[in-house]
Amino acid sequence: MTRDVDSPRCSECGGRCGHGPGCDMAARGEPVRARLWPGLFVVLEGGEGSGKSTQVPRLAAALREAPYRRDVMETREPGGTGTGARIREMVLGEVGLSVRAEALLFAADRAQHMMSVVPFLERGWVVVSDRHAGSQIAYQGAGRELGEEWIRRLSLWASYGVVPDVTVLLDVPVKVGLKRARGRGVMSRIDKLDAAFHERVRESLLRQAQAPGWVVVPGTAGEDEVAALVEAAVAARLEAV
Ligand SMILES: Nc1ncnc2c1ncn2[C@@H]1O[C@H](COP(=O)(O)OP(=O)(O)O)[C@@H](O)[C@H]1O
Ligand SMILES: [Mg+2]
Repeated sequence: MTRDVDSPRCSECGGRCGHGPGCDMAARGEPVRARLWPGLFVVLEGGEGSGKSTQVPRLAAALREAPYRRDVMETREPGGTGTGARIREMVLGEVGLSVRAEALLFAADRAQHMMSVVPFLERGWVVVSDRHAGSQIAYQGAGRELGEEWIRRLSLWASYGVVPDVTVLLDVPVKVGLKRARGRGVMSRIDKLDAAFHERVRESLLRQAQAPGWVVVPGTAGEDEVAALVEAAVAARLEAV
């Protein structure tokens, strides 16, 4: 679902300011935590082949079952909306795309995506996203060397100031992730960048994961063990909601 005209309802002022320029919090440049809504905004981050696409449906399935029994929306960035799917094709496939155009397309995807995510959070759903701002800060900020702080601010603006309640970083060594991704057989324009690029991405994600709200899970563990660790990280936050 997308709402192309309205901004998400602001839980601070109750209006449709969308935490955009009209909202006091966003105007002050402060991130607005999704936990201001009854839902929970969960993000899985990690490099290529770290296991995000394997774990998102597993986590969603676990959260729909006892003891949680929550409504869960599975989504991803880029490409979580109809518009986003078209943006995804461009950012992952376009030949000759400039690095700044790439960064702005990722931000455009995020701005559209949040329009569909926030109404679910307002209704108390758990939203589980395969990638979000952390990836962009790592890929464009560090990987592409556009500057992490600059991309963080761009991304925060694109997100209407909303930041995840919990971000789980599936950390794997670059070689392991790229080998898995090659084995999976689908490699995007960005996946194919050199190892130094992917090392910068990994380091950035690990740096970001020092912040509150992040949990690091070793993605090298077996799939079932990773699933249990991811579920435990999210369950701890669900109890607090
Ligand atoms: N814990 C794991 N151990 C070994 N292989 C894994 C594990 N998790 C995922 N894989 C495999 O690695 C490949 C990449 O996983 P995927 O979930 O697509 O990663 P991502 O979405 O992070 O790029 C897939 O073939 C998947 O089956
Ligand atoms: Mg994936």
